[in-house]
Amino acid sequence: MLGVYLSGTGNTKHCVEKLTGLLDVTAKMVPLEEPRVIEQIKNNDTIIFGYPIQFSNAPYIVRDFIKKNYRIWEKKKILCVATMGAFSGDGAGCTARLFKRYGALVLGGVHIKMPDAVCDSKLLKKGIEQNKEILRQADKKIENIAEQIKQGTYPQEGLSLIAHMAGLFGQRLWFYRKTTGYTDKLKISDDCTGCGLCVPLCPMKNILIKDGRAVAGNRCTMCYRCISHCPQKAITLLGDVVVEQCRYDRYVGTEVDG
Ligand SMILES: Cc1cc2nc3c(=O)[nH]c(=O)nc-3n(C[C@H](O)[C@H](O)[C@H](O)COP(=O)(O)O)c2cc1C
Ligand code: SF4
Ligand code: SF4
Repeated sequence: MLGVYLSGTGNTKHCVEKLTGLLDVTAKMVPLEEPRVIEQIKNNDTIIFGYPIQFSNAPYIVRDFIKKNYRIWEKKKILCVATMGAFSGDGAGCTARLFKRYGALVLGGVHIKMPDAVCDSKLLKKGIEQNKEILRQADKKIENIAEQIKQGTYPQEGLSLIAHMAGLFGQRLWFYRKTTGYTDKLKISDDCTGCGLCVPLCPMKNILIKDGRAVAGNRCTMCYRCISHCPQKAITLLGDVVVEQCRYDRYVGTEVDG
């Protein structure tokens, strides 16, 4: 078994690691953006595949990855895991449909509510205690799902036609423009000190340092990793001010670098 994930602020990483670890203690985990991921997928029959929901869709990097590597999915058994801040009709279905198209067997779908990752919007912001409670509920759900799966039943969240309609009409139709490709809308303010921390963090290699300042290209996949880590809070995307940097480690109190 292999756990594969894209994770901007750490939510999906945690969920995939926990679920995969409960199902198979020998399983390996690999981030989607690492070059070794292809070889690892080829070498494993069963894959727990996780990603955060963006506007009721899978991030573009995830859909791009599945499509570009269409040859590797034939006969793979895949459990699609979508994490989200509030709602996604068919979060798991978004990739399940692609995987099926390329010959994979979709074992099931899982939706897990986690803290919201959009650091530069007040819309879904919650207090630290509320976020801790969300994480406790998520962990409980993952433990229950692992038990069900061990007994042979895979959850089917987000895979039905009704779920597909809910995702489409509830959100995707209205926000589709935002998820049709990579974006060039990342903003880096004059507060940037050129420290370089954001450069290796980006799964798209979309940031470089030029003349002592960070500069963004046009291949941002909206993961919010750089935004949630910049010590100057100099990076924004959907909003104009960083309200609160969202990182899984902050909510569980395991963060070491403050
Ligand atoms: C650009 C963007 C769009 C998002 N859209 C949605 C959404 O439509 N519905 C939802 O429930 N959560 C949405 N979220 C919240 C994330 O899906 C959620 O916080 C997720 O757990 C983040 O996981 P990560 O830390 O692994 O990146 C969005 C987050 C981002 C960054
Ligand atoms: S992490 Fe922030 S301050 Fe450091 S280079 Fe990136 S944008 Fe600039
Ligand atoms: S530029 Fe920032 S938000 Fe965009 S993909 Fe890279 S790390 Fe994620």
